[in-house]
Amino acid sequence: MLASLSPLLNQSTDVLAVRGEGSRLFDAEGRAYLDFTSGIGVTSTGHCHPKIVEAVRRQAGQLIHGQVTTVMHPRLLELTERLGAHLPDGIDSLFFANAGTEAVEAAVRLARQATSRTNLIVFQGSFHGRTTAALAMTTSKTAYRAGLQPLMSGVFVAPFPTQYRYGWSEDETTAFCLREFDHLLATQTSPQETAGVFIEPVLGEGGYVPVTAGFLEGIAERCRRHGIVFAADEVQTGFGRTGRFWAYEHGEAVPDIIIMAKGIASGFPLSAIAASTELMSKGWPGSQGGTYGGNAVAAAAAIATLDVIEEEGLVARAASLGAVLTGMLNEVADEYPDRIGDVRGPGLMIATEFIDANGQPDGATAKAVLKAAEHEGLLLLACGAYGNVIRWIPPLVVTEAELAEGVGMFRRAVKQGTSA
Ligand SMILES: Cc1ncc(COP(=O)(O)O)c(C=O)c1O
Repeated sequence: MLASLSPLLNQSTDVLAVRGEGSRLFDAEGRAYLDFTSGIGVTSTGHCHPKIVEAVRRQAGQLIHGQVTTVMHPRLLELTERLGAHLPDGIDSLFFANAGTEAVEAAVRLARQATSRTNLIVFQGSFHGRTTAALAMTTSKTAYRAGLQPLMSGVFVAPFPTQYRYGWSEDETTAFCLREFDHLLATQTSPQETAGVFIEPVLGEGGYVPVTAGFLEGIAERCRRHGIVFAADEVQTGFGRTGRFWAYEHGEAVPDIIIMAKGIASGFPLSAIAASTELMSKGWPGSQGGTYGGNAVAAAAAIATLDVIEEEGLVARAASLGAVLTGMLNEVADEYPDRIGDVRGPGLMIATEFIDANGQPDGATAKAVLKAAEHEGLLLLACGAYGNVIRWIPPLVVTEAELAEGVGMFRRAVKQGTSA
């Protein structure tokens, strides 16, 4: 009997990738594709960066699986120390897992045990993962939740400051969303029963929406006042993606827990949560673990990833190339003012939002543009509840010439997609 892959696996392109190098993927016929998806924001150092490949080869020849609740291995100790240099003062304790969703679950367990409270607050448009708690905290699209409800209870949803959608000023948006947050605390989950607030500093799956200035500070202040754990989900935004090492660093607020994955290890499954030793110690013994978490080869890849980020100045590069890409995309948007309603986002985490003649989300056009781009040789992904936001997540090693090449393909794809 010939087996086949599950039909439930949704694939957004028809590409069979056999090789990757830098910003490009190659199919079996040798056709090159500019990969501005970076495997959903993972391969920030590009595909198969020679330093990552070398570190992985070396580690695979020494030790692949040093199971960390049985033995410790030096790569994880080294990685812990190296990551410490990128954490804020006081956040000095790390727990490693594999996927982003597992790290979110670990943060939920910690927030609940540390506070002896049950409830969680998330934001409209959030994506935190597909496992039990993380799925209940995910509100970016019904497709993730449909057929699985009722989900874990005790999760409350507050409005995210989606300025473009509301059509208000930044200040009005911030004030409204903070007022609604307070209203939620007054009407649905009292501070005394709220364990944690989880937020993406830039909404990922929810549509590539950065928080407005002052919003994170407002939330952090309320968390401090009420003894609620403030967790930043930096799974998609971390490791320099937004032009700062962590996206929360665009403002003043410092989270109690930082949740990380994706860009951490250039494609190897690794995730982590970071918190102060004081907070981490309030979790219950034995509540963190797992067979594969902190795998030696993944840890070696993560150390090499940090080497590359530091040596090649990738954080600053994301900021400067982000400005370049935003400029290029604004030019295209100016050519289609009634089809591309907004270009936004910090660093190399940029959204182009497609709208119809009435200014409403236009997922069909975005889909047609994505297909046309693929035929041109450019891979991009959609996001947002209506699939109308095309997101730009090139590797942080991308060159300005590659960005220009990609935007050229995008311009042709928009022409085709909007005339279809
Ligand atoms: C912000 C955020 N949190 C959590 C996750 C879940 O990560 P994973 O798919 O590795 O479980 C994702 C994945 O896209 C994400 O973008």
